[in-house]
Amino acid sequence: MLHRQGTLDWPPLFNKDRKMRGIHCAGAERYTVREPLTEVVVAHRIIEVDIHRRGWRRKMARLDPHSYTDSSHPLAKHVALTLYFDFAANTIHGSALLTLPSAHTGHLLLDTRSLLVHSVIDPVSGAPIPFSFPSSDDPVFGRPLSLSLSAQSAALIVFCTSPSSSALQWLSPAQTASKAYPFVYTQCQSIHARSIFPCQDTPAARLTFSARLNLPSPLTAVMAAARAADTRDPIAGEAGPACSDALWCSPGRAVEEFVMDRPIPTYLFAFAAGCIASRDVGPRTRVHAEGGLVLLDAAAREFAGAEDMIRAGEALFGPYEWGRFDLLVLPPSFPYGGMENPMMVFLTPTVIKGDASGAQVVAHELAHSWTGNLITNKTNEHFWLNEGFTTYAERRIVEVVQGEERAVLNTGIGWKGLNEEMERFADNMEFTKLKPNLEGIDPDEVYSQVPYEKGFQFLWRIERQIGRLAFDVFVKKYIATFKFQSIDTETFLEFLKVNVPGIENQIDLKLWVEGTGIPPDAMEPVSTIYSKIVSLANEFKQGKIPKEEEVADWSGQEWELYIENLPKSVEASQVASLDARYQLAESRDYEVKVAFLQLAVSSGCKEYHGEVESTLKQVGRMKYLRPLYTALVHGTGDEEKMLARRIFAEARDSYHPIAQGVVQSILAKHS
Ligand code: BES
Ligand code: ZN
Repeated sequence: MLHRQGTLDWPPLFNKDRKMRGIHCAGAERYTVREPLTEVVVAHRIIEVDIHRRGWRRKMARLDPHSYTDSSHPLAKHVALTLYFDFAANTIHGSALLTLPSAHTGHLLLDTRSLLVHSVIDPVSGAPIPFSFPSSDDPVFGRPLSLSLSAQSAALIVFCTSPSSSALQWLSPAQTASKAYPFVYTQCQSIHARSIFPCQDTPAARLTFSARLNLPSPLTAVMAAARAADTRDPIAGEAGPACSDALWCSPGRAVEEFVMDRPIPTYLFAFAAGCIASRDVGPRTRVHAEGGLVLLDAAAREFAGAEDMIRAGEALFGPYEWGRFDLLVLPPSFPYGGMENPMMVFLTPTVIKGDASGAQVVAHELAHSWTGNLITNKTNEHFWLNEGFTTYAERRIVEVVQGEERAVLNTGIGWKGLNEEMERFADNMEFTKLKPNLEGIDPDEVYSQVPYEKGFQFLWRIERQIGRLAFDVFVKKYIATFKFQSIDTETFLEFLKVNVPGIENQIDLKLWVEGTGIPPDAMEPVSTIYSKIVSLANEFKQGKIPKEEEVADWSGQEWELYIENLPKSVEASQVASLDARYQLAESRDYEVKVAFLQLAVSSGCKEYHGEVESTLKQVGRMKYLRPLYTALVHGTGDEEKMLARRIFAEARDSYHPIAQGVVQSILAKHS
C-alpha cells in the first residue's frame, strides 16, 4: 500500500547512510527509509522497499537510467491502442490496453510525461485498478505511473496527451504544404514515446502493438506498422472508455487500423496523419509525402534505388525481416535527417536535392533494419551498438550501390565530425566514450557523432584486423544470433571474443569501449579524391581558392568535406570571395549551405545574417539548427546573440518540441 504520494521532501524521510540495513541503491548510495513508506523515488532512481519480517529488503533496481521500468516487474508483451485525434485541441484521447506475459500482483511502474491519466481498468472484470504517481513530473524523464495489480495480466489505461507532449508535433494548416489541412507526426527516439501513451519506455523491453486511430475523414494516417484494414466508418462502442461514442462517431470521422506483429522497442513507435499522397517506387517500397505532388515526384525520383539498396543489405546482413520498406517525407520541421521507424522510415524533405544524394540517409535508415531494429541497444548507454553498427552498415551499402569512392568520402566527413566532437566535449570527456555513463543525462542534450563515428571506427578496426571476409561472416552471425533482442556492449564483446578467438590480444577492446578520445589505431580514410579535397582545404589558409576545373565534378558531399576542413574562422574577405565564385550560401544542398553559413558567422561576416535567418526559419532539422545557433551565440559581439534570440522567438513555434528544447539549451548556456 502506498502511504505517500507526490513529490518527496526527501531529507526528512531519508538518512543517507553508507552502511545501513541492506537497502542498496545501485547508484552506490544507501538509505534507510522511515516507516510506513513503501515506495520512494530519489531523483531519477526509484527504490521500492517493503517490510519483511527480517527487516527492510530492497526489491528493485532500474533496468535503464532513462526509464522508471523496474527490473523485477514483468515487461508488457503487447499494447492495443485506441487513439482519437483532436486537431482543434492538439491532443489525443486514448486508451492503452497493456498485456503482461502472466498475471502479476503488486506494483507495475510505467513511464509517462505530460500525460493525463483518467482511469485504469481491469479489462476482464471492468473493475478499477488503483494507480498513483509516486513523484512529480521531471522535465526530462517524466513521471512514473504506478499501477497496483492483483493477479492481473492486463490493464486498460485511459489517458489524454497534452499539446506539449514532446513526441508530437502538431502543425496548423498554415504550417503545412497543403495549407488546407493540419498535420501531426511523432518522433519517439530516444525517450519520448512516454509522452504519447504510458509504457515501459526502455529499449530493453520489446512489444507488439495494434492501433485503432480515429481522424477527421479528409486526413490519412500512416504508421510504422502494417495496415490491418481499409479506412472505415467508426462503430459505436468500439472505443471503450477511450472516448465517448458521441465524439468517436461524430460526422466526418474515419477509423484506420494498424498492427505491428514483430516485437519492437517503444522508441520505434511512429505515426503521422494529415494530407498525405503516396506512390510506389519498388516492389516493397512506397513513398508518402505531405508536400503535394511536386514533392512526391521529386521524392519518387530520389528514392527510386531503394530496392537495389534493400537487396544489397540482404546480401550483406541477411534477410530483410520487416516486410515493407516504405518512406515518409515529412514537413521541413522534422528534427532529424531520418528516423528508422520499422516498415516506414521517416525523412526530412532536405534530403531531396534532385541528385540522388538522399541515398546516403536512406541507406543509413535501411541499415537500421538490421542493426538497431533487429538488434537493439539495451539502454542509451549502448547507443553505439545502434548507430556505430548502422554507420558501418550504411557505408557498406553505399559502397555497393554508389561505389567505394562515395563510401570513403562519407567516412572522411565522419572522421572530421568525430574529431570536432572531441573539441566540443573537451571539458566533458565522458561523452567521448563509446559507452558513456548517462545517469541523469538527457540523451537529446548529449546527442553527438561519437556513437556513430567512434562506433564505426571500432568496427572498421576489427574488420582491418581479421579481414573483410571473416568480418562479414562475423556480422551475419551476430545479426542472426541476436535478432529481436536488446543487448549491451558486454554481450557484443563476449560474442566477439568467442567468435574471433584472441582478438583481445590484438585490439585494446577496453580502451576502445571505456576510454575517452580517439584511440591511436583509429584511421583517417585514404583515397585520391579525399586527400585532394583535404589538401585543397589546407591551401585555403594561404589564400588559395579552388579553381573551376578542380571542382568541376564535385557534388554536395565534396563541398561539404571541403568546407568542413577549412579553419573554423577565416578572413571575412576570403569567405566572400569563395561565395562569389561558387554561390555556396544559396546552395540547394543544405549540408553545403549550412556548413558555409556556419563558417560565415564564425568569421564575422554579417552580410550572411539574412540568409542564416531564413534558413533557420525554413528548416527544423537539428543537424542545421545546432551549428547555426551555436555559431551565433559564440559570435564576436552581442549582435549575433541577440539575432539568435530573436530568430528563435519567431521560429520556435515551427520547430518540433525536441528541437525547441535543444535550441533553448544552446541559448541558455550563453545567456
Ligand atoms: N536514429 C537516428 C536518429 C535519432 C537518433 C533520433 C537519436 C533520436 C535520437 C537516425 O538513424 C539517424 O542517425 N539519422 C541521421 C542520419 C544520418 C546519419 C545519415 C540524421 O538524422 O542526421
Ligand atoms: Zn541512425
